[in-house]
Amino acid sequence: MSVLVRAGVWPLRAARAVIPCFWRGKYFSSGKEPAENNLVTPMLRHLIYKIKSTGPITVAEYMKEVLTNPAKGYYVHRDMLGEEGDFITSPEISQIFGELLGIWFISEWIATGKTAAFQLVELGPGRGTLSGDILRVFSQLGSVLKNCDISVHLVEVSQKLSEIQALTLTEEKVPLERDAGAPVYMKGVTKSGIPISWYRDLQDIPKGFSFYLAHEFFDVLPVHKFQKTPHGWREVLIDIDPHVSDKLRFVLAPCATPAEAFIQCDETRDHVEVCPDAGVIIQELSERIAVTGGAALIADYGHDGTKTDTFRGFCGHKLHDVLIAPGTADLTADVDFSYLRRMAQGKVASLGPVKQQTFLKNMGIDVRLKVLLDKSDEPSLRQQLLQGYDMLMNPKEMGERFNFFALLPHQRLHGRNHQINALQSEPSPSPVAGFSELVWR
Ligand SMILES: C[S@@+](CC[C@H](N)C(=O)[O-])C[C@H]1O[C@@H](n2cnc3c(N)ncnc32)[C@H](O)[C@@H]1O
Repeated sequence: MSVLVRAGVWPLRAARAVIPCFWRGKYFSSGKEPAENNLVTPMLRHLIYKIKSTGPITVAEYMKEVLTNPAKGYYVHRDMLGEEGDFITSPEISQIFGELLGIWFISEWIATGKTAAFQLVELGPGRGTLSGDILRVFSQLGSVLKNCDISVHLVEVSQKLSEIQALTLTEEKVPLERDAGAPVYMKGVTKSGIPISWYRDLQDIPKGFSFYLAHEFFDVLPVHKFQKTPHGWREVLIDIDPHVSDKLRFVLAPCATPAEAFIQCDETRDHVEVCPDAGVIIQELSERIAVTGGAALIADYGHDGTKTDTFRGFCGHKLHDVLIAPGTADLTADVDFSYLRRMAQGKVASLGPVKQQTFLKNMGIDVRLKVLLDKSDEPSLRQQLLQGYDMLMNPKEMGERFNFFALLPHQRLHGRNHQINALQSEPSPSPVAGFSELVWR
């Protein structure tokens, strides 16, 4: 167990969201819940126009338009996180979450030989809270990381959230450089003096030894949905309801569609969701990690190729019919970790998924909680720490529904030389923290 986690060398932060709030892994839905508002949104008008022009659209196209359309997308112009928003995430609940992830990256940096430089890359950073907590740990452990050249790279499509991230993470006195049309659309310096850049696409991030982080990112990527029928797989599409004007409905494609190629030949479920965008991102991460080193840590709610219909919507901390008032609610589907593993195509090794409860316990959450409780005299803060711990760890809350999954270079798990290792003449690599108990060598 880490001496540093035990010693509590970094402080208790200000209060986070009042708990309980609604987190997104909670229920399943496919647009069958009663909707509270039946608004004809600009996005609905746009979709109806699109369907009238070109015919029914796939669920993936619907999700992509609704969430990230540059003009009207749900993620593009609002802050949907926290009490005032639509849902809450682990880093917004407790500072301990990000701190332990910060320790994970340092532990991997040490285990892989303390490279002279690394990039911390976060995909879909929300309000920047998670990166902020990680960077605070990096600062507090400055003596460990001294001489390491760190830079931060954020992949974010939301203009609104990127502004909030800049407020959370950057030094006000150093003006941000902006160029809306460039692949690096914003640049600055973090509060601890580290260069930070914003991108819309992972591909634009410089190649080099990097630690990649994706928390509740893969679940917002567009999924195709398929139903098994007596005639074979048929894709679920979205069409205009012929009986009710300004209303959408699900229909089945009359014949096979190209995305069917993503379904496994030996698939036994009768309904599946596939996410080609996730596959492309995993392939890019795997290629980068195999060639230039580092690791990817992916945390999300999901399953290992077992679940069926998980597409659902959230608005104002409530489940929301996915087809009603599009653009006003978040849309999400559980991540299929078996698909992510397949998409790594053996270029890198994968670990997990392990349950959040197991991962955080292995990272020393109990010790860290005790340190913070011992340091806090204020009853409301103590209560908040305990409630936050319960939300993150309780199997009925986020403890079992959320999972951690990692991509690592093969040599990180098996050593540089497999055979020499077997003969014990080269020390075997240290276990990967979180997936087993954290130890510092
Ligand atoms: C559910 S939020 C999670 C936020 C944060 N990781 C957290 O846990 O608090 C999803 C994040 O991914 C971003 N996002 C959604 N689709 C994206 C895409 N295609 N490319 C990059 N970022 C995206 C959103 O703007 C948001 O920052």
